[in-house]
Amino acid sequence: MERIKCCEDLITPCFILDKEELVKSICGYKTALNKNFGRWVIGYSVKTNSTPYCLKLAGENGAYAEVVSYDEYELVKLCGFDQRHIIYNGPMKSKETFLDAVMNGAIVNIETKRELLWLQELPQDRIFRVGIRLNINISRISPEDAEGDNDNSRFGFSDDTMEFADAIGLIKSLSNVVLDGLHIHRTAHSRSIRFYKKSIGYACEVIKKYGLHLDYIDVGGGYFGIFSNKPTYQQYSDSFYEVLSQHGLERLCIIVEPGNALVASCYDFLSEVIDVKHVEGECWFITTDGSRNDIDPFFKKSSYWEKELYRTETSVVKRQIISGCTCLEYDRLFTLTDKPLLSVGDRILYKNVGAYTMCLTPMFIRYVPNIYVREIDGYSLIREKWTAEEYIQKSKI
Ligand SMILES: Cc1ncc(COP(=O)(O)O)c(C=O)c1O
Repeated sequence: MERIKCCEDLITPCFILDKEELVKSICGYKTALNKNFGRWVIGYSVKTNSTPYCLKLAGENGAYAEVVSYDEYELVKLCGFDQRHIIYNGPMKSKETFLDAVMNGAIVNIETKRELLWLQELPQDRIFRVGIRLNINISRISPEDAEGDNDNSRFGFSDDTMEFADAIGLIKSLSNVVLDGLHIHRTAHSRSIRFYKKSIGYACEVIKKYGLHLDYIDVGGGYFGIFSNKPTYQQYSDSFYEVLSQHGLERLCIIVEPGNALVASCYDFLSEVIDVKHVEGECWFITTDGSRNDIDPFFKKSSYWEKELYRTETSVVKRQIISGCTCLEYDRLFTLTDKPLLSVGDRILYKNVGAYTMCLTPMFIRYVPNIYVREIDGYSLIREKWTAEEYIQKSKI
């Protein structure tokens, strides 16, 4: 790979990966789980950032790939994951990939009723192992962490109706299938330790209620990563252990599926000023080649960790509205107040934008940008920007 010596030479807009940061996060969670548990698995949440380079790096550092669709399943296989290192969740499984995963030792958590029917097509001459997702209503199990009065979920089988009982009844009726695990992912907005204690406590009660003999509990994602004065990986792990041991279930293999916690901090986004307009009084519009689509595809963020990189000194102005490159009037990112006026060619670096950004960016007016990885002695391109040629592939004209 050709090395680019300094940041100024990177072609914008672009993402910049700090691979040491990703490895540090994975190792941090490993160390924490290792302290409490004899068996544990870290599943890298592929939907959170599916850059092939990251997937490979995560795999090389001992993470499994947690996928939620047949496309993600095929992607991680292409990136070197053996089925035994894949966790297959979600409703968007195909029958073909579902059976391939179950027959080849992936951790498969059943989400839909059609998967229960597909189990009946497994060969009779071997035993197969599956998990099932339990429906979690946060308002019921941990009201302090709930959003609104009824923070219900459309995922998993509910033990409030007969659906969980029916599903495990069906699995038990199959002589060649063993129920091996329970999946309980919910991301509570609080990301609090309290929430995990309550949700794992609830899972333990369900395990007891049905007399399940499981191999694993998959507690999903939803953790803080690098923030100071927020729960640490060790505090999360200690809390899992505390609750499981209260129920005599501490020997279960613990599976975590961190998304945000692993990848948010390992990516920056770099954009460049392409125009400066003075439209009224003390207000300037700064057009950049980045877009809110790149780093806030839901248009929900109210602030960013951003840094302006000025090339020349200019005078201070009252208000600069930093805007994106699209033709959407609302593609405005943030406002600079009482700061030197940006000029064409100045750059803006947005920190910690690796989670749910690149994989959600629409193909709106320009296609996916370059991705560089930061090395000790410079930067290397790990994904070249898509041009119209890549966009048009597989289309008929
Ligand atoms: C099943 C599953 N696991 C893990 C994650 C990752 O969650 P987070 O990014 O909050 O850690 C998600 C996110 O939606 C998910 O649906």
